[in-house]
Amino acid sequence: MTTVSDVSDVLFAPLETTNLSLANRIVMAPMTRSFSPGNVPNADVAAYYRRRAEADVGLILSEGVSTNAVTATGTPNVPNIVTDEAKAGWKSVIEGVHAGGGKMGLQLWHEGPYRDPAKSKHPDAPSWSASGVKVPGKPLWEPMTETEIETAVCEFVDAAAAAKDLGFDCVEFHGAHSYLIDSFFWDQTNQRTDQWGGDWSSRTRFACEIIRRTRERVGASYPLIIRLSQWKQQDFAAKTAKTPDEMEQWLTPLVEAGVDIIHCSQRRFWETEFEGSDLNFAGWAKKITGKPSISVGSVGLSGEFIAAYGGEVSQPASLDELVRRMERGDFDLIAVGRALLQDPAWAVKIKNGRHDELMSFSKDALASLS
Ligand SMILES: Cc1cc2nc3c(=O)[nH]c(=O)nc-3n(C[C@H](O)[C@H](O)[C@H](O)COP(=O)(O)O)c2cc1C
Repeated sequence: MTTVSDVSDVLFAPLETTNLSLANRIVMAPMTRSFSPGNVPNADVAAYYRRRAEADVGLILSEGVSTNAVTATGTPNVPNIVTDEAKAGWKSVIEGVHAGGGKMGLQLWHEGPYRDPAKSKHPDAPSWSASGVKVPGKPLWEPMTETEIETAVCEFVDAAAAAKDLGFDCVEFHGAHSYLIDSFFWDQTNQRTDQWGGDWSSRTRFACEIIRRTRERVGASYPLIIRLSQWKQQDFAAKTAKTPDEMEQWLTPLVEAGVDIIHCSQRRFWETEFEGSDLNFAGWAKKITGKPSISVGSVGLSGEFIAAYGGEVSQPASLDELVRRMERGDFDLIAVGRALLQDPAWAVKIKNGRHDELMSFSKDALASLS
């Protein structure tokens, strides 16, 4: 049975990595909130993040932030990091988080094939993706040109440099969930036959260019995270890497390009990745690369999560199971999404064993920035 002190020992232990020091192991997962009118994060957004910083979240990752103001998003009220107004808004956000005792990274996002041009301010601009494919086998647009690829890489690098200049503690490249970077990784959406498609070294080249050039720009000691997912919006059961060997070919170039931490998006943290081992995606990422990894997925969402406190049988979704995996060293950090969206004080409540005060996630929480 997991006790309050076991939880403190594991989840609230500080983390020292080569490039990042954190007070504990809890990360607020990046979550799009669409509360930035004019694509500018305002005082409400700053207060929303500061509340989590003041309540023991070790690292906050921002909602996805657009790397340009034209093709990167079709979602209304998503903030960017491009205009002077948006940069000023983000400066207030990071100052508030630091004043609240927290640390924060900006997640850099290009929606690629998932941008909805009809909802975009620029409906006539083409959506960018490796092969113009959203549904595998059914190309909708032209593949990105060399010029567009070069522009997209430069925009990611500029956005990362801007985040560093504003004082963010790290940046995360959104390389998951079928968006632009992921459209290059997955062979079902990358059918290119040039240097950007084909084998693993070609399909990872776009991400590697972004990471390598960002590393040159921001210096050796600025922390760079990449978020990856095996699952796709088109197919939750999809796998970019079908074997540990394929995963090695996927992740090794990213690490060689200069990434520090791998954030492995799963829908349920306890689900295993490959037959013959109970490691999850973040477990494999750390085993293969030796780099710190972040896991995520349905932490704290159900009554079973804290049932072990009461001495009940451990469920796969439980805090027991999370502590077991982290104690074993499978991964270093755990990202928490909906539970922290619902309740800014979630981490403090877990730390102090106030499990009777934990709230269930309700979609109503999406309607405002509480
Ligand atoms: C409202 C909402 C918005 C999200 N937006 C993003 C996003 O901008 N970037 C991203 O990488 N993941 C996004 N996600 C996925 C979360 O980061 C996280 O992986 C997912 O919610 C699973 O974690 P959870 O079970 O703890 O909620 C979003 C999830 C939710 C619920």
